[in-house]
Amino acid sequence: MSEFILVKKSQIALFKDIPFYYHTAAGNYALYKKKGERLDEDRLSKVKYPDLYISDADKDIALKELMSSLNNDLKTKISEGKLKDVRETLSIIVDEALTSGNESTMDALPDTIDILMGRYNKNKGAMEYLTQIASNSSILVEHTVNITALTLHFCFHHHFPESDTRQLAMAALLHDLGCSQLDKDLIESKKRLTDGQFSTYITHPQLGFELIRDNAEFDVAVSTVALEHHERIDGSGYPTGQRRITSYAQLIGLIDCYESLAYRGKKFRKRRKPYEALNLIKDEVMSGRFSKEIFRQFTSCLTR
Ligand SMILES: [Fe+2]
Ligand SMILES: [Fe+2]
Repeated sequence: MSEFILVKKSQIALFKDIPFYYHTAAGNYALYKKKGERLDEDRLSKVKYPDLYISDADKDIALKELMSSLNNDLKTKISEGKLKDVRETLSIIVDEALTSGNESTMDALPDTIDILMGRYNKNKGAMEYLTQIASNSSILVEHTVNITALTLHFCFHHHFPESDTRQLAMAALLHDLGCSQLDKDLIESKKRLTDGQFSTYITHPQLGFELIRDNAEFDVAVSTVALEHHERIDGSGYPTGQRRITSYAQLIGLIDCYESLAYRGKKFRKRRKPYEALNLIKDEVMSGRFSKEIFRQFTSCLTR
């Protein structure tokens, strides 16, 4: 017998090709809308309707349709120039990709990046502004959206070739995918982690690497960033303490560090002003943890 999955209310209008079911008083699931129909958003806001479900058998195709509808939504919001709505839709896309753990959602991410690249190329500062808008998403989603926007801003500022920009943006979007495999409380905790919790936390680069590597859609450069973004060139990083790190992983590692300090405050530490965050990272550059050149390039894109 097939199982049924509740559809989030905010996403009901995004489905057309998937039948919806509702739970009857007799305890069964009955058809609410058939394939090919879309429930009108306006009507949904006025009419009381039951909780709606999809059949588990339709899950993969439903996620595909959901991601493609969200990408279309993103396109529209960008062309309307409403940054708050762009941030909102991007956060939903990232949330779905990080939490569903399903290939159908990850496969839609290259389109998401293409939309962001195509529409935002002319407005080079838009990505930086995008990071300054808060939303109600989880810490991991907020962090991921910020890193992706900062990375695109960096690439646009330095006129990176399209192929590098695309790879780096994908890497930014997926760098912490491994965190989605860990206990949510551990990831969202604002407190200093215990030794035991920290040992668990530092498994996320390897977990993310394996998930991305197993998906043929992504280049090895992208999975390597997930694996190496907490490594440091003086060997003081984790998980292995290796000193040879790809330049992509060095860049995302540095942006990751900056975002944690300047946008959210690291765990148990307060949020820093951008120049304070850069000063703190500069100390790490001077002690040999980060590349001077990458730091210089990053600083120049923020202070243009
Ligand atoms: Fe990480
Ligand atoms: Fe991160």
